Amino acid sequence: MTKTLGKDLLGLEPLSTEQIRLILDTAEPFKEVSERQIKKVPALRGMTIVNLFFEASTRTRISFEFAEKRLSADTVNVGSSGSSVQKGETLVDTARNLEAMRINMVVIRHSASGAAHFLADRIQSNVINAGDGTHEHPTQGLLDLLTLRDHFGTLERRRVCIVGDVLHSRVARSNIWGLTKMGAEVAVCGPRSLLPKDIAEFGVIVFKRIEEAIEWAEALNILRLQLERMQGGYIPSLREYNRVFGVTRERLDRAGRPVLIMHPGPMNRGVEIDSDVADGEHSVILDQVTNGVAVRMAVLYLLAGGRPELADAAKGASER
Ligand code: CP
Repeated sequence: MTKTLGKDLLGLEPLSTEQIRLILDTAEPFKEVSERQIKKVPALRGMTIVNLFFEASTRTRISFEFAEKRLSADTVNVGSSGSSVQKGETLVDTARNLEAMRINMVVIRHSASGAAHFLADRIQSNVINAGDGTHEHPTQGLLDLLTLRDHFGTLERRRVCIVGDVLHSRVARSNIWGLTKMGAEVAVCGPRSLLPKDIAEFGVIVFKRIEEAIEWAEALNILRLQLERMQGGYIPSLREYNRVFGVTRERLDRAGRPVLIMHPGPMNRGVEIDSDVADGEHSVILDQVTNGVAVRMAVLYLLAGGRPELADAAKGASER
């Protein structure tokens, strides 16, 4: 039974159930820090964290930065535009040069699957995967688990269906690993062209029709159609996709009971999800974003060697 995370957080596939539970439990006391007037505790004072975002991001980049600042770490943001990556510097050379300036951790988002792993094998600093290609997005998976656990009290035997573009989705992979390890029942639903060929090997139920998925599920995690990763030919048109697979109020009403609505963002309103569903009474989409800060604080704290039983004390009094 491993009660620490090790050097890096690269995905949920390599984590044990105990490690996932450890992160979720450590996130609990950190939630309250963001509700304070002075949102700062000294837990990571003196640590330097570099956020390497080589792909667009709003939620993940900003929430990592908030998490780092709220733990009193010093942070630097590096993007491909404006850095020497534009002049052809490699990822590893960039990271090693940053390490020469005595950093402690790297948070990386990259379009290449495996980029975080590649970097973690080559630098001393802790590496956190903030989304690598179509591989994994572990902190998104963790904040989704935390949001579900907040709502249902437990993840065991809860029925969660991941809807849409599973093929291109690192969020789907992290959710499937995390949910199954925590004892949830997991399904996917989407056009055959947007499901991985080996999806059955993940141990999930596959629904061909959104109506069946809604009838079965207690929660829907609705994925963005990743148009930028599609070379064409996956779906006839966005309108057609919405007509056949869109999560609409009308379809949800037919279930005759509440279904929790989640989306990792950014949303294509009117494509995979209608606005009255996204903004409806059963939507926890903004709760997911709020939980993202606490989950990232927990991951940073644990990777820095923070003891989980001291997380409550670590948040102690606000910095003045
Ligand atoms: N959910 C998510 O990863 O959003 P961003 O791309 O805005 O970070």
